[in-house]
Amino acid sequence: MKTILVTGGAGFIGSNFVNCILEQRPEYRIIVLDALTYAGNLHNFNKENWSNPRFSFRQGNIKDRETVEENIRDADVVLHLAAQTHVDNSILWCDEFINTNIKGTQVLLDACKKYPVERFIYVSSSEVYGSAQSVPMTEEHPMNPRSPYAGTKTGADRLAYSYFVTYQLPVIILRPFNNYGPNQHTEKLIPCFVSKALDDQSLPLHGDGSASRDWLHTKDTYRAFIRAIEADLDKVAGQVINIGSGVETSVAEITQRILHHLGKPASLIQPLPDRRGQVRRHFASTQKAKSLLDWQAEIPFEQGLEMTIQWYVQNRDWWSNLKSFPRERSLDEEIARAITEPKRVLGFVRTELR
Ligand SMILES: NC(=O)c1ccc[n+]([C@@H]2O[C@H](COP(=O)([O-])OP(=O)(O)OC[C@H]3O[C@@H](n4cnc5c(N)ncnc54)[C@H](O)[C@@H]3O)[C@@H](O)[C@H]2O)c1
Repeated sequence: MKTILVTGGAGFIGSNFVNCILEQRPEYRIIVLDALTYAGNLHNFNKENWSNPRFSFRQGNIKDRETVEENIRDADVVLHLAAQTHVDNSILWCDEFINTNIKGTQVLLDACKKYPVERFIYVSSSEVYGSAQSVPMTEEHPMNPRSPYAGTKTGADRLAYSYFVTYQLPVIILRPFNNYGPNQHTEKLIPCFVSKALDDQSLPLHGDGSASRDWLHTKDTYRAFIRAIEADLDKVAGQVINIGSGVETSVAEITQRILHHLGKPASLIQPLPDRRGQVRRHFASTQKAKSLLDWQAEIPFEQGLEMTIQWYVQNRDWWSNLKSFPRERSLDEEIARAITEPKRVLGFVRTELR
């Protein structure tokens, strides 16, 4: 049985991955290492996981060398997702983005030098490319990050690559495009618009809404991660692989679809000036993922969006109490929540939950 260390596993993409793999692949053991920042949420895990002997949750910070070494010692594979992820926050306050996204990645890579793993998968981001100069965007597209968040992802992406070259660490770099699905914080576009529309609040639409992205449902991302974990290492070590659908959809179109699906009026749209660091156009070339991972997205955007909207409709409890950056939850706060909201908090200990 192989052990996968998932950093940032209590966040959006990580928790979807963990929930799927525990349900579908009995041959893996999962350790989640997560600092439980405002973006990490124990409610993201399926309740059954807590009694699954193949699941272990450890609260810890990837910036902490000792914690990281302790956890990497037990791992065959590292799936490194932990990061500060919200572009707007990075514009307001970049320090924590540099510390977690770049320094934290260095700590993990160094730990792998000391305690070798079979493979280290760095989950980078399509944001490293900036706006498309040519489409579809291949892995050779110039890297022109346009926000501090994207800058830190680019730094870590290239740092991971340099450890492959310099120390022959078995690094694989995946560059997912925009993910959506259950458990995504309401600071991000689709959950923001769905939750606001449900409450008849205005939807802040930046610019003319023509900015487009390549949208990928987290179930498709899960399948791509599995392929990267199981691919022949000689084929994928040192490679950069886009994880995208190859289809672009504009923010204006998504807004219309959400309003239409929820039966809400277009008057809820609140036009705002263009976002600083805006990326205008973005969609993936999917060729390399097909040839190296035998993977391509399967969930059409219309279908995935409907499933996602339904999830937010049915899980108001989950999103109505989310916290926001930079306030981090303290242990005292978490315990207070456990006492006052027993149905919502599953439990909390500093080192390990099972
Ligand atoms: N969401 C997307 O559309 C998208 C697209 C491309 C790439 N990515 C990348 O995928 C990864 C996961 O993204 P997400 O959307 O799930 O993010 P998220 O913000 O939902 O989750 C991030 C998780 O990392 C944890 N974390 C933050 N700092 C930490 C630290 N110092 N130590 C340990 N844990 C820490 C948080 O508690 C949280 O659980 C990130 O690296 C992100 O850059 C995301």
